[in-house]
Amino acid sequence: MKKIFWYVLLIFIVVVTLTLVVIISKKTDIKQEKPQDEKQEKLKLLNNIDKKIDYFHYTYLDRYIAYKQKNSLLSDMDIVTRVNLGLDQPFYQNTRQSNQLNKTTILVNKYIYLPEDYVPNNLTTISSDFSSSTRQLVYEAKEAFEKMASAAKEQGYTIRAISAYRSYEYQKGLYDNYVQKDGVELADTYSARPGFSEHQTGLVVDIDNGTVDYNNFESTEEFKWMDENAQNYGFILRYPKDKECITGYNYESWHYRYVGKEIATFIKNNNLTYDEYYARYIDK
Ligand code: DAL
Ligand code: ZN
Repeated sequence: MKKIFWYVLLIFIVVVTLTLVVIISKKTDIKQEKPQDEKQEKLKLLNNIDKKIDYFHYTYLDRYIAYKQKNSLLSDMDIVTRVNLGLDQPFYQNTRQSNQLNKTTILVNKYIYLPEDYVPNNLTTISSDFSSSTRQLVYEAKEAFEKMASAAKEQGYTIRAISAYRSYEYQKGLYDNYVQKDGVELADTYSARPGFSEHQTGLVVDIDNGTVDYNNFESTEEFKWMDENAQNYGFILRYPKDKECITGYNYESWHYRYVGKEIATFIKNNNLTYDEYYARYIDK
């Protein structure tokens, strides 16, 4: 009787051990399995995207994954920033009206437009000391611009406004002319379509030094001065070199945007475009 008990116990132990071995080996197999189809590949990528990024939106998950697949060298911060801006789709697609009208933090680009009849509040004429003819900016930007141009003057430099606020209709005239001359594709690289120009915000000024054509502003001493000082007066170079794929425009050494001193200094120190700043810190 005792012997039978020991036999049964032995058989039981053997069966349990074998069952455990089979279960464990199956689990290990699953872990080592490589993603074989697209769905698994996507899951793997998704797990790799840093979801702790402050401006990460779960609704854009598929777009982040698709953009990361195409731009594997970009950081996760850049992937999320660019998709949030809409850069995973062509310019002028999926456009939306700005919800920041009359704020100095407004972003206008090839995805965010202004209403046709939008005229900013508090447009004020720039002093003729610092403008080639009658031009207007929003009061806060005008004050900052005059302070900046005046400081430059004291140090022997000439900074004057050659374009500032532009209405929808004025921009339409400009853009249509450029399209007639150069065609849509080329015109789009340097001129905004009506409603999509930052000039309509009244927060933007194009400048020259009174002697050199604005297209060559980069070659002037005034450009160097602006490079060193503009941020202290709240202005940023809005369309920098090598950022065309983000801003949608060729480099413009003469086009400056007022965003206030704090933001301008942060953007300068971190080598950002305003589009990126907006996606990360304003439109989170
Ligand atoms: N030149 C700039 C992009 C504008 O037309 O607003
Ligand atoms: Zn401009």
